[in-house]
Amino acid sequence: MQVMSGKEVSKAVYEELHTRTEAFVQTHGYAPTLAVVLVGNDPASQSYVNSKKKACLSLGFGHQDYTLAQDSTQEELLSVVRRLNADSTVHGILVQLPLPSHMDSEAVIETIDQHKDVDGFHPMSVGKLLIGLPTFVSCTPLGVLTMLDHYKIETSGKHVVIVGRSNIVGKPLAALLMQKGRDATVTVCHSRTADLASLTMTADILISAIGKPLFIQPSMVKEGAVVIDVGINRIEDPAAKRGYRLVGDVDYDTVSSHCSFITPVPGGVGVMTIAMLMKNTLQAASLLAAKDTK
Ligand code: GUN
Repeated sequence: MQVMSGKEVSKAVYEELHTRTEAFVQTHGYAPTLAVVLVGNDPASQSYVNSKKKACLSLGFGHQDYTLAQDSTQEELLSVVRRLNADSTVHGILVQLPLPSHMDSEAVIETIDQHKDVDGFHPMSVGKLLIGLPTFVSCTPLGVLTMLDHYKIETSGKHVVIVGRSNIVGKPLAALLMQKGRDATVTVCHSRTADLASLTMTADILISAIGKPLFIQPSMVKEGAVVIDVGINRIEDPAAKRGYRLVGDVDYDTVSSHCSFITPVPGGVGVMTIAMLMKNTLQAASLLAAKDTK
């Protein structure tokens, strides 16, 4: 069994991004800049937003932080997004999800200029992805593909079973893996799937993205399978300094012994997601610069 280390793969990604960022700054005289908008004070969201800021700083990217109160109106949020759309010094815009329940996430995402949609959540980005056109690809699926490539894991002709059908992970991953060039046969399972274990047992590559701690047990995994754990779940742990610890969707301790490759949590896919956000931000800045000089 080999551990697929997000730390190791993201280190290689950051090294490449460092070089490309230096070249970008040399050519254009400014740094790629990401604006992150957070509504409310959910601790997990605050922690993700902090990590994104740190990644920007480590690469020398520009970074702007906007925090709106939990009871802000939809219109207040939309006006921040519109201002960022119009600001030529901002190249990537990310509105941290989930939004408070009184807000319409779809309307907010649709308002983001698709050229600055570094999350790849805009319907135009998702549509392009589905038909195989170049576009911003959402960061977690892109991170999973980058890890598969790094460890030279073949997807052609393989049966990939994805547990979870979210717009952020399950659906885009399915679209990417079935694309020509990746050539996987993809099954997407969800909460209403009958006899889930009988399907996951047939997976050459099993990807879990449902957000249920330790849901994937050894009896659900084929001997020698590749197991990718996208879940990042906080569970209470009085012994831990922060009172909680992070676990994946996969019961790592029992599953790892009979797979060929597995991603840990933490230190797996989660680290890759932020590296891919940085990659998308550099790409957005490059494409916007090319548009300006046309
Ligand atoms: N919430 C959880 N993951 C993500 C992500 O990738 N992007 C945004 N905007 N919000 C998230």
